[in-house]
Amino acid sequence: MKRFLLLLFLLTGWAVSAQENQNIEIQHVRYKCYPYLQHVTETSFTVIWTTNMDAVSWVEIAPDDGTHFYNEVRPKYYDLRGLGRRPIGRLHKVRVTGLEPGTTYRYRIMMQGVLNADNRKSIVYTEGYGMDILHHKPTKVTTLKKDYDHLKFAVVNDMHEHDSVLRADFKDARGKYDFVLFNGDMTSSIDKEEDVVTNYLSSAGELFAAETPLYIVRGNHEFRGNDALKWYDYMDNPGGKTFYTFKYGKFFFIVLDSGEDKPDSDIRNLGIMAVEPYVREEAEWLKEVVRSEDFLNAETRIVFSHIPPEPNGWHGNRMVSELFVPILNEAGIDLMLCAHIHKHRVDPIGTTDARFPVVCNRNQTLLECDLDAKRLKMDFYDENQKIWKALTYKVGSFK
Ligand SMILES: [Fe+2]
Repeated sequence: MKRFLLLLFLLTGWAVSAQENQNIEIQHVRYKCYPYLQHVTETSFTVIWTTNMDAVSWVEIAPDDGTHFYNEVRPKYYDLRGLGRRPIGRLHKVRVTGLEPGTTYRYRIMMQGVLNADNRKSIVYTEGYGMDILHHKPTKVTTLKKDYDHLKFAVVNDMHEHDSVLRADFKDARGKYDFVLFNGDMTSSIDKEEDVVTNYLSSAGELFAAETPLYIVRGNHEFRGNDALKWYDYMDNPGGKTFYTFKYGKFFFIVLDSGEDKPDSDIRNLGIMAVEPYVREEAEWLKEVVRSEDFLNAETRIVFSHIPPEPNGWHGNRMVSELFVPILNEAGIDLMLCAHIHKHRVDPIGTTDARFPVVCNRNQTLLECDLDAKRLKMDFYDENQKIWKALTYKVGSFK
């Protein structure tokens, strides 16, 4: 009888233990949003990604010299948003600095999932994970050169959450462009911050942006939804605002934040907008930009603005006309590339208050730009990814 009771006790213990083991879910940290490049300069770049669970992260860098990635200990770069303490979270933003211009490097995003953080006592990690993002080998990034004779870049706008269309537009984009720019309204409303990941950023990272610099322009719809302000956490723009400049040698680009389309006081703005003071502050910044050495020394100057200027149009159009166009008219630019109206439109010089051409790209369709010292050639694609129109403008008049 005693032996029977002992056996029963052991069997019961084993069964309970097996049941407990079944209830322990083994967690692995993995990327959720593919990594994408932001703010690439001659000596630095930022890579941003998200994970499926809270994690601490870092990036490892190696030269593109044929050595195995594990040939030696590679330099590590950490997420410094924690001001010296490594952030535990799902959004990871690591800036890599101290690089050489015009040089290709390999990088790996590295992470450890955090199962439990008990204040000062302990942190329980998952196993570490280093990601070969593409092609089962470390991803490559090339810093900007000091000068360029030629640039090829692509623009889309007003995708309004059509991730599958974005994927079709960029299905062959890997390695094809010097940069890609999203010219606003990639979402219709940012109700949850994951929207920016699922609607376009993860596809961008998967298809091209892990290796190709991505610039993002704010559209009026990026002002909408409960998590609209979190949208900016997913960017790293030069200068740290939603309006900024960047340059590729003698080619200079200005990115404007053209605000909401209706007045701040409009009932549909829910009493939550302060766009007008913000774009007035932006106009003061623009006055400084056109006085900067980079602008004055540039041979080609192109401006991106989601909303096009129209003095008699909606409030947003009028604000662009009144606040930005006079500064740009005075300073001199080659061209403004816009979006927002969901159709192709060309406003030649003399047809609006702008003393430069304004070109609007259709919604959800690709615009490919081929730029050299003398001309900008634009190929406009249709919804079947076929070129339906080409335009060429003379540029370089500011030599
Ligand atoms: Fe828009």
